[in-house]
Amino acid sequence: MVAAMQIISPSSLVLLGLVVSIGNCHNFPFEGVQLQDSDIGNFSAIDFGDAATGSGAHQQSCKTFPGDTTWPRPDEWARLNATLSGALLKPLPPGAVCFLGPNYDLGKCDFLLKNASSGRFYVNDPVTVMTQWTQGQTCVPVANPTNGTCTQGGFPEYVVNVTTVKQVQLAVNFARNKNIRLVIKNTGHDFNGRSAGAGSLSIWTHHLKDFEYLAEYNAGDYSGRAGRVGVGVETWEAYKLMDQYDMTMVVAGAGTVGTFGGWMAGGGHSVLSSAYGFGADQPLSLEVVTADGRFVTASPTSHPDLFFALRGGGGSTFGVVTSMIYKAYPRIRVTNTELSFQTLEAAPPRLGFIGNRPPNPLGFATNITKFWEGVDIYWAFTKNFTAAGGAGYSFLTPFVDPVSKKAGMNFLMTVRMPNMLPDEVFAFYQPLFDSLAAIGIPMQNPEPVSPINWGPPRSGDGQKPGTTRFSTRLLPATNWNNRTLFLETTKAIRAIAESGNYTFHGVSIQPNEETARYPYSAVGNAVNPAFRHAIMHADVFDYTDYGKDEAKIEAAHEKLDGYIDGLRAVSPQSGAYLNEADMLEPNWQQAFFGSNYPRLASIKKAYDPWGVFWAETTVGSEAWEVQNPEGWPTQNGRLCKVSPGGGKGKGKGKGKGKGPTRKRWN
Ligand SMILES: Cc1cc2nc3c(=O)[nH]c(=O)nc-3n(C[C@H](O)[C@H](O)[C@H](O)COP(=O)(O)OP(=O)(O)OC[C@H]3O[C@@H](n4cnc5c(N)ncnc54)[C@H](O)[C@@H]3O)c2cc1C
Ligand SMILES: *[C@@H]1O[C@H](CO)[C@@H](O)[C@H](O)[C@H]1NC(C)=O
Ligand SMILES: *[C@@H]1O[C@H](CO)[C@@H](O)[C@H](O)[C@H]1NC(C)=O
Ligand SMILES: *[C@@H]1O[C@H](CO)[C@@H](O)[C@H](O)[C@H]1NC(C)=O
Ligand SMILES: *[C@@H]1O[C@H](CO)[C@@H](O)[C@H](O)[C@H]1NC(C)=O
Ligand SMILES: *[C@@H]1O[C@H](CO)[C@@H](O)[C@H](O)[C@H]1NC(C)=O
Ligand SMILES: *[C@@H]1O[C@H](CO)[C@@H](O)[C@H](O)[C@H]1NC(C)=O
Ligand SMILES: *[C@@H]1O[C@H](CO)[C@@H](O)[C@H](O)[C@H]1NC(C)=O
Ligand SMILES: *[C@@H]1O[C@H](CO)[C@@H](O)[C@H](O)[C@H]1NC(C)=O
Ligand SMILES: *[C@@H]1O[C@H](CO)[C@@H](O)[C@H](O)[C@H]1NC(C)=O
Repeated sequence: MVAAMQIISPSSLVLLGLVVSIGNCHNFPFEGVQLQDSDIGNFSAIDFGDAATGSGAHQQSCKTFPGDTTWPRPDEWARLNATLSGALLKPLPPGAVCFLGPNYDLGKCDFLLKNASSGRFYVNDPVTVMTQWTQGQTCVPVANPTNGTCTQGGFPEYVVNVTTVKQVQLAVNFARNKNIRLVIKNTGHDFNGRSAGAGSLSIWTHHLKDFEYLAEYNAGDYSGRAGRVGVGVETWEAYKLMDQYDMTMVVAGAGTVGTFGGWMAGGGHSVLSSAYGFGADQPLSLEVVTADGRFVTASPTSHPDLFFALRGGGGSTFGVVTSMIYKAYPRIRVTNTELSFQTLEAAPPRLGFIGNRPPNPLGFATNITKFWEGVDIYWAFTKNFTAAGGAGYSFLTPFVDPVSKKAGMNFLMTVRMPNMLPDEVFAFYQPLFDSLAAIGIPMQNPEPVSPINWGPPRSGDGQKPGTTRFSTRLLPATNWNNRTLFLETTKAIRAIAESGNYTFHGVSIQPNEETARYPYSAVGNAVNPAFRHAIMHADVFDYTDYGKDEAKIEAAHEKLDGYIDGLRAVSPQSGAYLNEADMLEPNWQQAFFGSNYPRLASIKKAYDPWGVFWAETTVGSEAWEVQNPEGWPTQNGRLCKVSPGGGKGKGKGKGKGKGPTRKRWN
């Protein structure tokens, strides 16, 4: 699975029968297998593009769609498949086996309903995305076959299961020359459907799992350990590699997230972010197929503008990354501690994190004022532990005691302290427990836990599509320096938690300029400046499943957005984290990219004048829209250019004078 690879010399690759382009830098043998001009022959559909002259196809007002006369004929797909060495898939939605018709299979449907979600089925599926409403929910598995129908919906029409750079190049060229919507899917974890798309050709990077450990690596001002990593390596696999090579890398929190795909591309926050920066601060160089189909290295000295954009400017925008050289650090211990208190002596719903959970002595606040005072004491203390390199994950969860039927509020926080031993962590946190005791929330400081193998369990099981909707805000560190503003900020958080329908989740980290180090120190990167200067990434989750009820979805969205307005009011210059955000975020260009937007938009234009790469709320995406039938934004429809004069113009809601909003309620 995760292969520790040696770099094979070009001559030995020739012995393996592979064509290698000598002189082109790459990290792995699979990247030596490239599309040559001589491969094109009379198959013009796979020819390279020229960004200087553009191409005719992109003049069309929409991408071509199955059923159109311009959609490639079966023989053209077959010819593409031949050039791909047979890697072209035409996958059905997994749920198809549950619906009456030629694909119906009771046994497979049973497996889907009972077993798929506990294993690797969905992570290994070529089309599944983990937020199912983004696909249009056109084929959700059901227990009893009814008269329901299953359609492809927002899933791609074809998928290239790539294992070589040549296959990536072929897919990019074919999509560009044939005016087909192109999608990149790694793990499908994206919350806003940015790895799905109706009528698309998808590049599936899941199997690019090569890895090589570099004990000594020098690049620019960097001198230290590093890893060569294929973009398909998942987080749990990266933890296994850390165990194996006795080193540390900055990776995502959950095991199946694609650390080297969308996570890094969008910024990527981590347990180690207050110590070593964002995921986007880690690559020293990247290998990438650009929109013209060419394969290039992006680094401080090669395509530096692309290097800037690919680190924090979002996935699916500037190219398909195939591998990178990623900073590594000596092995460290990460010590965990936890505290929890609530307003009722009743069993609360337990949220939080799996694995490595320390003992959890529950505290009680005898009245609600005291409870919120306690929460404020914790929020204030986040400044202390993030300055010491720590990361805190807190949850405010309303609950109803099943016996007394009384409403209660639970506060739970788990903290991870890199490079600190249990005794030090215990001592570091004692003042926090003392402060809480002083206001009448006495609690035992638990024994911190310091597992040798920190992070998620070393198996990537258990991911399945969900229906959560959420919205977020980055709260600036400067809000913590002014007591009045600090209290206004925590008051806005309290209002959200007390609304009763949401779980508030605070990620407390401070990945500032100092933690980022080289290459950020030399050439910067595209991480949202609002994230760089934040002390909390505030998430508000609405776990209610509204099904496909448009009116309810719209009302719920309006309501949630109203609460986020409270956070916006105390952070007007800030923004939101693009990987974990509401895709209808008002003025999203400013919110997700801040002052980097104009530069990123010009890099996008220079590298992709065709609009080959497109996904919701990515740089330049405002030029296009999905014409989907649902009354909320999904990927279930044709991708068309926004007509001059402002798109469909059928929007209602939003439009509170907050700038260019996406008017997507049809
Ligand atoms: C359970 C869960 C836990 C999470 N935990 C964290 C967390 O701890 N910290 C955090 O910051 N975020 C977290 N996220 C959010 C995460 O950062 C995003 O979901 C991210 O988009 C995932 O990237 P992916 O490659 O795994 O997913 P995908 O959905 O496959 O891809 C995401 C986006 O990146 C693009 N992309 C992927 N690979 C490439 C590539 N090689 N080249 C170009 N574009 C590419 C895709 O086209 C898509 O637009 C979490 C999400 C989930 C569902
Ligand atoms: C393209 O070239 C192949 C051989 O390389 C040939 O068999 C085929 O007929 C050609 N097709 C066209 C349309 O010219
Ligand atoms: C592509 O070719 C392979 C090998 O011949 C075949 O198994 C596969 O079904 C083909 N894909 C499509 C979409 O026809
Ligand atoms: C599927 O799950 C059921 C019930 O949880 C279990 O009894 C069965 O053994 C599982 N089957 C497989 C193939 O894992
Ligand atoms: C399915 O359709 C048939 C024929 O239209 C109808 O008789 C039957 O009641 C339907 N079943 C369900 C469960 O809706
Ligand atoms: C994709 O390719 C990998 C590597 O060749 C292979 O193991 C896997 O089975 C393929 N997946 C599908 C769905 O064809
Ligand atoms: C509730 O707690 C606050 C803060 O600790 C305290 O000032 C107040 O007296 C308490 N109220 C009641 C009714 O106990
Ligand atoms: C947190 O840090 C501040 C400033 O360094 C210090 O004054 C305060 O006492 C610390 N708080 C606790 C609870 O240790
Ligand atoms: C502190 O914040 C308050 C509320 O936003 C503001 O009115 C005040 O000017 C700020 N004080 C300073 C010194 O910035
Ligand atoms: C939660 O949402 C439901 C449905 O939108 C609504 O009926 C209910 O009043 C809400 N509860 C609270 C406490 O706001």
